[in-house]
Amino acid sequence: MDIEKVGVVGCGLMGSGIAEVAAKAGFDVVVREVSDNLIKAGRSRIRKSLDRAAKRGKLTATDRDAAWSRLRFSTEISDLADRHLVIEAIVEEIGAKNELFSALDGLCGPDTIFASNTSSLKITDMAAATGRPDRVVGLHFFNPVPVMELVEVVRTIATSDAAFNAAYAFAEALGKRPIVAKDNSGFVVNLLLVPYLLDAIRQLERGVASMEDIDRAMTLGLGYPMGPLTLCDFVGIDTVYRISEIMFDEYREGRYAAPSLLKRMVSMGRFGRKNGKGFYDWSGDQPTPLPLFPRR
Ligand code: 3HC
Repeated sequence: MDIEKVGVVGCGLMGSGIAEVAAKAGFDVVVREVSDNLIKAGRSRIRKSLDRAAKRGKLTATDRDAAWSRLRFSTEISDLADRHLVIEAIVEEIGAKNELFSALDGLCGPDTIFASNTSSLKITDMAAATGRPDRVVGLHFFNPVPVMELVEVVRTIATSDAAFNAAYAFAEALGKRPIVAKDNSGFVVNLLLVPYLLDAIRQLERGVASMEDIDRAMTLGLGYPMGPLTLCDFVGIDTVYRISEIMFDEYREGRYAAPSLLKRMVSMGRFGRKNGKGFYDWSGDQPTPLPLFPRR
């Protein structure tokens, strides 16, 4: 299975990163979003990232322009019909993903491989919504996609060797270092990461230490690049909440249950760095901790 033409559905933080690395690696990429406004935002995110890479000397201006010319944007799902691989990075809802894959199933050629960048849903459920379960895999990227080397390549009990090998080779062709994971909710990374993030929030709720000290503990004590509460803001508070709900639903274990502080932050629209306020206020040069508890 030769992959040359790639489709990316969803051009948010993850979709734009996936489209960018695929274009930089020489693939012909069509990016599909649902509205012109979302295309505009995604296109400008990719352009900025390419410009930044060129400015920092990671990419020549010629390679940047070549990558840019390999990207096309569309609101029409039919523009994905000729793709060899379609990767979805849309909202983390099984209904929306199944609807998308079912529509793609009727549009794309029989050899097209479908991949999901889901962080916690099961690939098997998506595969079952298509007439090609043997050609459905997980390709789970990490944020920021241009920087993080890992891709979790996920196969279900139905994935064919040919589709799996093609997806794995694709991840390598992007310059990533893939690992193979079973189709369990959270794969390898989120199975470890999500309870850790939720425990950090629980520590904060219990007043074990201040927000900055919980973060500092993990950066200075364990050499992590960012502390867990900063990482929650970076991933998105709403995303952490959504993943925890899905994983709790799957495993019914307290370690995946969303702490009430997390739920309240979502209700208040404190989604993290993407909208300026999460655990920290991101509007200035440096993130500053936001007050969370009663005070006079
Ligand atoms: N796009 C492209 N490049 C970026 C970038 C971005 N968004 N952000 C940072 N970079 C590059 C910089 O250009 C810089 O490159 P250089 O050293 O070659 O000049 C390099 O990354 C380091 O950046 P900075 O010096 O600005 O900042 P840091 O040293 O703090 O690194 C970081 C930033 C790479 C984001 C680092 O803080 C980090 O690794 N954080 C943890 C990220 C992480 O855990 N990601 C996984 C999230 S979980 C997930 O995605 C799964 C989901 O399912 C929940």
